[in-house]
Amino acid sequence: MAVPLSRLGPKLCLLAQSAVAAAAHSYAPYSRFTVGAALLHEDDAITIGANVENCVYQSCCAERAAIVAANAKGYRRATAVAVFGRPKDYIAGPRDAQNVCTPCGVCRQLLYELRCLSGRSLPIVLVTTDGLHAETTSIDDLLPRPFGPQDVGIDVAQWNTGTSERPTTTRTSSKITAVRKGGASSKREPNAQKAPAASRGLKKRSTARAAK
Ligand code: THU
Repeated sequence: MAVPLSRLGPKLCLLAQSAVAAAAHSYAPYSRFTVGAALLHEDDAITIGANVENCVYQSCCAERAAIVAANAKGYRRATAVAVFGRPKDYIAGPRDAQNVCTPCGVCRQLLYELRCLSGRSLPIVLVTTDGLHAETTSIDDLLPRPFGPQDVGIDVAQWNTGTSERPTTTRTSSKITAVRKGGASSKREPNAQKAPAASRGLKKRSTARAAK
């Protein structure tokens, strides 16, 4: 149920307003559908993004733009996300004022990656078309039964610092063993229990490589 932005509390209210403001940067001459997204980071900094289109109809969604912008600033984690989208020529009216723009499928997968990097649930604030109300959901609700980093044997906790330093232990058997034993990182990952199957697959591949 949508509530007035003020009911979200000061941080999420500001986040929602940032998503609304971000939509003003939308470059959407083709769809004429403007979207703004905002990520809240652990230090309360906010990163915004807006959708960017081109003449061969490849869109970069606002959520993706925000995630990429945050990465460039050194942020790979977020505590919440806000999304606001509406037709460019939207005229305020009671009929669709409470509509929300939900993230597309590709963005849901990216938001799930952000959730894994963040090591916590990721609330998503969907701002209504009037820009004054919002409903709150989460990536776990928007993407049930996700395919995640653990399915391919990767523990992204090592990559969450926001620096370009390459982790040294990704895809090593010792790390996978740690995940299988239920190490600290697996506790934070929503699909950690899938690690053994993935690690078996990885072991097979690495054995095959070693044999060559
Ligand atoms: N769009 C977003 O930016 N985020 C979404 O989650 C849904 C769709 C953009 C892409 C395109 O520029 C326009 O909205 C219409 O699809």
